Amino acid sequence: MKTQVCIIGGGPSGLLLSQLLHRKGIESIVVERQSCDHVLGRIRAGVLERGLVDLLREAGCGVRMDREGEVHHGFYISHNDAIERVDLEAHSGGGTVMVYGQTEVTRDLYDARAAMGGVILHNVQDVALHDLKSQSPHVTFQMDGEDQRIDCDFVVGADGFHGVSRPSIPEPDRREFEKVYPFGWLGVLSETPPVSPELIYGTHERGFCLCSMRSQVLSRYYIQVPLSDKPEDWSDEAFWAELKKRLPASVSDKLVTGPSIEKSIAPLRSFVCETMRYGNLFLVGDAAHIVPPTGAKGLNTAASDVHYLYHGLSDHYLNGDSAGIDEYAEKALARVWKAERFSWWMTKLLHSFPESGAFDARMQQADFEYLFSSDAAQASLAENYVGLPY
Ligand code: FAD
Ligand code: DHB
Repeated sequence: MKTQVCIIGGGPSGLLLSQLLHRKGIESIVVERQSCDHVLGRIRAGVLERGLVDLLREAGCGVRMDREGEVHHGFYISHNDAIERVDLEAHSGGGTVMVYGQTEVTRDLYDARAAMGGVILHNVQDVALHDLKSQSPHVTFQMDGEDQRIDCDFVVGADGFHGVSRPSIPEPDRREFEKVYPFGWLGVLSETPPVSPELIYGTHERGFCLCSMRSQVLSRYYIQVPLSDKPEDWSDEAFWAELKKRLPASVSDKLVTGPSIEKSIAPLRSFVCETMRYGNLFLVGDAAHIVPPTGAKGLNTAASDVHYLYHGLSDHYLNGDSAGIDEYAEKALARVWKAERFSWWMTKLLHSFPESGAFDARMQQADFEYLFSSDAAQASLAENYVGLPY
């Protein structure tokens, strides 16, 4: 097979890039290790920045999001029994976020790719990247027991944190920065009305919690748990009881509980790979960087990578101008590090760290008191939460 851009990974990054390129007349093939049902079964992000919302519209995938997604103008932070609202709109010059699940984004992208006849090869195995420093790289894999090969101009590694693309960059050309946090998030999806019309990020001496939603009849809740916990250690009853203990009484009194329809644990990690380009391989999204989910930045940072690469590849193919792809890694990484900083700060502010002592507890307290007594501090939070400009 032959194409212009071979994209490894059919998650949101790979699908969005493929869809945007196709609309500019640039060909791509997406190769995905899992089945479509598996990809759509993953419950992940829920909060979309303006930049991603605009890209989805540009990709022709915004109709259902604009109909069913909810525009949020603020969110709450609770601290033991106190609760304060962060007015995103007032503090960021009119910024808002869209609450619309990553599962739905991915479904819309699959539907759009299918409608345009986009090529997505599922259930591929043993993907390997070759000749990345040459003008004619190629990708090999197994499909239905047969060896396959795709020749292309560029390879895009959109295959997430555990993919094959990043390790294809030889070690001397790749520097990795990592911080692993000593806890995970246990997430539950339930067919219950959300406890609050806006998200609540909750801190408590028992640990962090988050009240989020997918719609007015579908709620998503998270609690901080030790890394050693497994989802099966937590019955639904135990989850709801723990969540209630971490919320102010004024909120927990209103919590509607019900059976979980999904329960999973995500570890928390900060990670950046420098560089994001090696020869004619470009890394995008979780393949190149991971943030702890506290600031809702993972999918949104993947989207900013897609934005830079999409414009770079379009300029290369349509105008013969390669400046955009040459500057890709530098531009993407500059924004990535800011999202890393914000996510790390939100994580530090809101979680209980097992190793922290009395001084750290006072620092966390002082951080809250400063945040809610300073318009400048809330403006900084709001500016980052709605998304820094591309
Ligand atoms: P992925 O979604 O990981 O997709 C990569 C794809 O590549 C997968 O489909 C995988 O099967 C495929 N693949 C892997 N290896 C290979 C291979 N060798 N060959 C072929 N295919 C391969 N982000 C936000 O912005 N906001 C949030 O609110 C938010 N909340 C989150 C909550 C949780 C609990 C979690 C876990 C994450 C959250 N995120 C959030 C992060 C967000 O989900 C990710 O950043 C996003 O999925 C990245 O998309 P991606 O396409 O780069 O990678
Ligand atoms: C959700 C996840 C997040 O990480 C976050 O910060 C906000 C919302 C969610 O899954 O709804």
